[in-house]
Amino acid sequence: MSKPSPIIQLEGIRKIFPMGGETVEALKGIDLIIHDGEFVAIMGTSGSGKSTLMHILGLLDSLSKGRYRLEQEDVSSISRDKRAEIRNRKIGFIFQSFNLLHRSSALENVELPMLYRRPAIPDRREIALKALKMVGLEDRADHEPRQLSGGQQQRVAIARALVNNPPIILADEPTGNLDSRTGQDIMNLLVRLNQQGITVILVTHDPEIGQNARRRIILRDGIIESDESH
Ligand SMILES: Nc1ncnc2c1ncn2[C@@H]1O[C@H](COP(=O)(O)OP(=O)(O)O)[C@@H](O)[C@H]1O
Ligand SMILES: [Mg+2]
Repeated sequence: MSKPSPIIQLEGIRKIFPMGGETVEALKGIDLIIHDGEFVAIMGTSGSGKSTLMHILGLLDSLSKGRYRLEQEDVSSISRDKRAEIRNRKIGFIFQSFNLLHRSSALENVELPMLYRRPAIPDRREIALKALKMVGLEDRADHEPRQLSGGQQQRVAIARALVNNPPIILADEPTGNLDSRTGQDIMNLLVRLNQQGITVILVTHDPEIGQNARRRIILRDGIIESDESH
């Protein structure tokens, strides 16, 4: 077996937010290598910088200092538009609050990331249905989010995250709004996706949820306090 290659390389990442007249340094120098196919949990107390790090990893936000290479490509200082384009192809996002469009069906929600693809994808509907099938919701395609349970809504969000076949899934507290049993169902789905080769990076404050990851990184006050593989 060949050695897995780094999919994410961070060197000296800092993130500074302006706050009134002051600044807040949310990340104070993060060095991190994540290899293709890893399952990583990022943990740490509230305010330690987990979401800030996920936003940078997911190209939702720019970094203030340092270097970020994503699949060997330097994405440290690219434009917002270029970030969006790379994000659309390489990153699937899952959020605590699902972030679905409320007046759209499950199918339309899953189709959404494909609407930004150029050239346009002709068989969007079939691809979206297939993604819904992967998460066991093909019979809920016409339902709006309010007609679905929390766990079902999160599965729709996972189908949406998968639909462009990204190599990486980022999940920020994906079980935070779910009861523990439904949360573990969602985790089992993420574990299965990881077994199929997708790199999964998950933020959680729940040690039990963190147990699903082989590698656990603890952030504290904007730096990596520990990084252990089990
Ligand atoms: N947009 C922002 N503007 C100003 N400060 C922010 C912003 N986002 C996060 N912060 C600050 O950065 C620190 C880390 O926040 P965050 O990454 O959300 O932590 P966590 O997700 O671990 O709870 C906190 O002190 C927070 O107040
Ligand atoms: Mg957070």
